Amino acid sequence: KRLPIVAIDGPAGAGKSTVARSVAQTLGLLYLDTGAMYRALTWLVLKSGISVDDRPGVTEIASTAQIDLRMSDDPQTGVRVWINGQECTQEIRSVEVTSNVSAIAAQKAVRDVLVQQQQQWGEKGGLVAEGRDIGTHVFPDAELKIFLTASVAERARRRRADLLASGEAELSLEKMQKDLSERDWKDSNRDIAPLQKAADAIEIQTDGLSITQVTEQIASLYWEKT
Ligand code: C5P
Repeated sequence: KRLPIVAIDGPAGAGKSTVARSVAQTLGLLYLDTGAMYRALTWLVLKSGISVDDRPGVTEIASTAQIDLRMSDDPQTGVRVWINGQECTQEIRSVEVTSNVSAIAAQKAVRDVLVQQQQQWGEKGGLVAEGRDIGTHVFPDAELKIFLTASVAERARRRRADLLASGEAELSLEKMQKDLSERDWKDSNRDIAPLQKAADAIEIQTDGLSITQVTEQIASLYWEKT
C-alpha cells in the first residue's frame, strides 16, 4: 500500500504554496506544487511565440515538454522549476505568465499530460500536493483533503506582498483583486476539472491565521486521519 497523501486545493493567493510546503516539512513528506507545472508550460508557450489559444500548437508543446521540479532551499522561492532543461523558476511567477496560465490549464491535452505526470510522482504516496483539482481528480483517494480559502481582499494583499518581494512592478490592490477574481472565475468555470471543493474536503478559512497556525491545524488533522 502507498504512503498517505495530503491534497490542498483552493483559489489563487489563499496561501496554498506556503502552507503546503510548511506542512510537508512538518510531516516529513514531499511537496508537489502542481501550479508550477501549468505555469512552466505557459511560460514555454509564450516564449515560443505561440498563442495560448492555439490548441494544436499548445498540444504539441505539452506532449513533448519535460518538466522538473525541485524543492528550493530558500523558502521565498518555493520550488525550482525547469522545462526542457531550462530553468524558469523566477519567470513563471511573472504577471504575464499569471494572466495567461488559466487559458492553458483549461485545455484537455494539457491536463492529460500534466495530471498523468503528477499521478506518477504520487504513486508511492508520502506527499503533500497542492493545486485546484488534487482532491477531486488527481488524488481522489487522498487520506486528507484541505480546501484553503481567504477573502479576496486578504488574498490580494498577500499576492501583492509576494510580487513586491520578488521585485515585480507595484500593482494596486484593486487591480490585484480584479486579477485574482478573474483567474478564480476562469479556473472555477472551465469544463475539465474545475476548481471545486471536494465533498470530503475540510475547509480552512485563513484570514487572520498565521502560517504556523494553519500548518498546525493541518498536521493535527493528518495525525487524526492516518
Ligand atoms: O497555484 P498557482 O497560482 O500557481 O496556479 C496557477 C494556475 O494553474 C491556476 O490559476 C490554474 O489555472 C492552474 N492550475 C490548475 N490545476 C492545478 C494547479 C494549477 O488548473 N492543479
